[in-house]
Amino acid sequence: MSASPLSAARDVAGLRAAVNGWRKAGLSVGLVPTMGALHEGHLSLVRTAKARCDRVVASLFVNPRQFAPHEDFERYPRDEAGDSTLLASAGCDLLFAPERTVMYPEGFSTNVIVTSVSTPLEGEMRPHFFGGVATVVTKLLLQCLPDAAFFGEKDYQQLLVIKRLAHDLDMPIEIVGCPTVREHDGLAMSSRNAYLNADERRVAGRLNLVLHEAIKAVRGGAAIVDAEAEASRHLSAAGFTSIDYVAIRDAETLERLDELRDPARVLAAAWLGKTRLIDNMEV
Ligand code: PAJ
Repeated sequence: MSASPLSAARDVAGLRAAVNGWRKAGLSVGLVPTMGALHEGHLSLVRTAKARCDRVVASLFVNPRQFAPHEDFERYPRDEAGDSTLLASAGCDLLFAPERTVMYPEGFSTNVIVTSVSTPLEGEMRPHFFGGVATVVTKLLLQCLPDAAFFGEKDYQQLLVIKRLAHDLDMPIEIVGCPTVREHDGLAMSSRNAYLNADERRVAGRLNLVLHEAIKAVRGGAAIVDAEAEASRHLSAAGFTSIDYVAIRDAETLERLDELRDPARVLAAAWLGKTRLIDNMEV
């Protein structure tokens, strides 16, 4: 059985016409922003959105502003036809797939900067990143004006940044965090997993196990700095080529903790060759 083709809007007027039609009919609307190359993680967001809202829009836009010049914007996997079929089968009602010039027309000059939760961890490693994310997500939220928007805990710091900006800018939109979907060995699903060769893929499955061990260690009374250092050593020993961070932090502010208190989160970023993987878990 083939999924029915999904209708697509290419500009803001088309998106708003569809959303306004649903609103007039009294229907609620959910938005799932993505950069495409969709997998079960993305589709779980669409299913959750569909369970909570009458109509679901998924956006597909590989956002150049969240990639640094040396990063993988050019080689980021793109497959709109495949994505469209998957979205339809997950219950999505509309694909919003704008061209770059629709999102960033000539003269575009606005940057949305969230401080506090943007600063540590990913903010230190990828200084351009959250400005790009906050700017494009603000645009997507205002273009669609959904009742709720759905984001994965896989990108935990990103979720906190988006919750912060929606709250700070008084957006009447609920930001919903959804659990991380994992492969059989626990590797968090990611569009970037496609970059891994067979050897790297085997090592990648160690990341979530090492985070589980770190949680067990601090829950068992180990000092946070010791558990973080031990986890980094384990990742290197497993074959990760470089470790950006393993950090046990306050789950709401991402501030350092002198000693464990709830809610806490362990977050990590590590490299396998040219591929950077991130993961996180509740402590
Ligand atoms: P992308 O990496 O395509 O992810 C789109 C959404 O899917 C994000 O909310 C992300 O957290 C979620 N997601 C990815 N992998 C997941 C998994 N394994 N389980 C659950 N959810 C998962 O994140 C982005 O795009 C961009 O930064 C975006 C928010 C679209 C702005 O450009």
